[in-house]
Amino acid sequence: MGDLMHAVGYRKPLPVDDPESLVDAEVPVPTPAAHELLVRVEAISVNPADVKTRRQADPHGFRILGNDAAGVVVANGPNVSRFVVGDEVYYAGRIDRPGSAAGYQVVNENIVGHKPASIDFGDAAALPLTTITAWEILFDHFGLQPGDAGTLLVIGAAGGVGSMVLQLARARTRLTVLGTAGRGESQKWATEMGAHHIVDRHDLVDSVHAVAPDGVDYIVSPFSRGNIDNYAAVIRPFGHIAAIDEPTGLDLLPLKPKSVAWHWELMFTRPILLPEDPYQHELLEKTAKLVNAGKVRSTATTRLGPLNAETLRDAHARVESSATIGKVVVTR
Ligand SMILES: NC(=O)c1ccc[n+]([C@@H]2O[C@H](COP(=O)([O-])OP(=O)(O)OC[C@H]3O[C@@H](n4cnc5c(N)ncnc54)[C@H](OP(=O)(O)O)[C@@H]3O)[C@@H](O)[C@H]2O)c1
Repeated sequence: MGDLMHAVGYRKPLPVDDPESLVDAEVPVPTPAAHELLVRVEAISVNPADVKTRRQADPHGFRILGNDAAGVVVANGPNVSRFVVGDEVYYAGRIDRPGSAAGYQVVNENIVGHKPASIDFGDAAALPLTTITAWEILFDHFGLQPGDAGTLLVIGAAGGVGSMVLQLARARTRLTVLGTAGRGESQKWATEMGAHHIVDRHDLVDSVHAVAPDGVDYIVSPFSRGNIDNYAAVIRPFGHIAAIDEPTGLDLLPLKPKSVAWHWELMFTRPILLPEDPYQHELLEKTAKLVNAGKVRSTATTRLGPLNAETLRDAHARVESSATIGKVVVTR
């Protein structure tokens, strides 16, 4: 048997206040296969995806949780071409593989970027999953080019994804950006992240029309349930909407009169179904340049540690509340 490492995961889906909902374990250090890096994990961040997995998915024994990570490459599998041992990296991993809440993790180089040199591991770990999501929506689904203009509405603007949509839209386009944020502190944060106007999600149609009388060209929707009629009212003809949540039974017909394009974004589609595609590697490299140039900043707002089951239960409880601003980070 090879070397062992500490990891945090779960053995059965349980409420987060149950001490068994996340547990510490000793497991073998994984071995990198072709195109994979072995990374010593220095920091992770917690996403709603981690919470949904912990609450719902069969762990098949013991499952290590965690998607986002920042760390150091300590070994390479065969045929790795983009990284050498010692490189500092950040990545969001694959939801169908052992997670990042561990001493070490293997990850395919096609979904890894060099960590921005100007920020530490904790700040870097806040970024990958939400950056990939925001980037794929803006520059892939919406097809926005640097300098494009128009009006973008971001629902949940102070959340993990919203914060990155705002920053990337401001850094790489000339869009006018509207964002929903319901509390004083989330409004302050969304404004810092780049929102030109804060609008009220409980009075969406009127508050959007108050600042954008002709409506909006693009909507980013992390909270779609109950919003389709509102979107139909504020979107412009031939506008685009990207949804990232799981609103079962959604009726999209109200969007037909305006010929609206509805995009589903799942940031794990490329890692799982197109593993040879280096698009996410490239976008993380471009984002690192934006961070190093001071055009995009880390969205870490809460830092916890050390990385163990007790700390991760605390982090999950915060993210489960759906009230977090920016990102919750856990450092080793
Ligand atoms: N498909 C993908 O690839 C992908 C990627 C990332 C995330 N997601 C999903 O997207 C959703 C959001 O993720 P996230 O990380 O941005 O979440 P988050 O960080 O937990 O979002 C929390 C923020 O959203 C606001 N909020 C809470 N409930 C809301 C509602 N019903 N309507 C509008 N705003 C609300 C809150 O601020 P205020 O209440 O103060 O406004 C809070 O600041 C989750 O379901 C997540 O699983 C999907």
